Amino acid sequence: MSGETKYLWMDGELKHWNEGSIHVMSHALHYGSSFFEGIKCYETSQGPAVFRLKEHMIRLHESASIYNMSLPFSVEELVKAVKDLIKVNNLKSCYIRPVAFYGYDTLGVHPKKCPIQIAIATFDWGAYLGEGAIENGVRVTISPWRKFHSSSLPTVAKAGGQYLNSILAAQDAQEKGYDEGLLLNGDGNIAEGAGQNIFIIKNNEIYTNAEDSCILMGITRETIIQLLMDLGYKVHIGKLSLGQLFNADEAFFTGTASEVTPIREVDKRSIGDGKPGAITQLIQETYFDVIKGRNNKYDHWLSYIK
Ligand SMILES: Cc1ncc(COP(=O)(O)O)c(C=O)c1O
Repeated sequence: MSGETKYLWMDGELKHWNEGSIHVMSHALHYGSSFFEGIKCYETSQGPAVFRLKEHMIRLHESASIYNMSLPFSVEELVKAVKDLIKVNNLKSCYIRPVAFYGYDTLGVHPKKCPIQIAIATFDWGAYLGEGAIENGVRVTISPWRKFHSSSLPTVAKAGGQYLNSILAAQDAQEKGYDEGLLLNGDGNIAEGAGQNIFIIKNNEIYTNAEDSCILMGITRETIIQLLMDLGYKVHIGKLSLGQLFNADEAFFTGTASEVTPIREVDKRSIGDGKPGAITQLIQETYFDVIKGRNNKYDHWLSYIK
């Protein structure tokens, strides 16, 4: 893959990138029994810094725990592993992908004695929604595939198998020439993008949804809510309808990979005037200052690699 680095971390050891192999009969490959995170490390004036590293590792533990998997490495050990890996790979910035999964033992659906394995890779990953997405905004289509309901699968868990739903939405969007798919939930309200949470702005007030809309509780979502409130904006958390989106002044996606990406069009309807709006631009600038260590107030969200 492009952007690969020299070493990865696997089950407590540093290995060369090409040694990160597993058996083809591993449980996770057949049933999606894996849990993962997407984390980013940014270049700052004080060297590389990972954004909200501990929170991501806590979510990794919690995703696994819902499925009764107890990870063999603590949050602190995983945090240290990420820092060691960034150091040994001599990186200034990178994307970080930890993945915990059931390995090779049985093919029964119940993983029983399958070993619990964990790997962490660091690599270079360009703009997730394509060049220019952050600056100009993206075009989005409503997915014909609904977001699965949290009574079927825990939407708060970042589990490999659950992403089949997102794959369908992302493929549909790209086949139709859009940048990303937006999934409605079983009630017909807005859930989230294939890999992002969504925010809507109307009359200078901010709207986003919550767990009961069947979403992943994004760490960027939580960050942005905090930053918007600190900027003095009123943030309403509740159900989001399609009508609200079509009538919005502005809308944007949030996610570790997508950061803050303006939504300029939904199914050929312009959002606002079809350009990134003023509040979206303000929150983008604020977010970039925070992740790049230019705002001391939020320095506690950064883990510096000294
Ligand atoms: C389905 C889905 N929703 C939301 C998000 C945003 O989550 P976060 O901000 O924690 O990256 C992601 C990204 O990982 C995602 O895959």
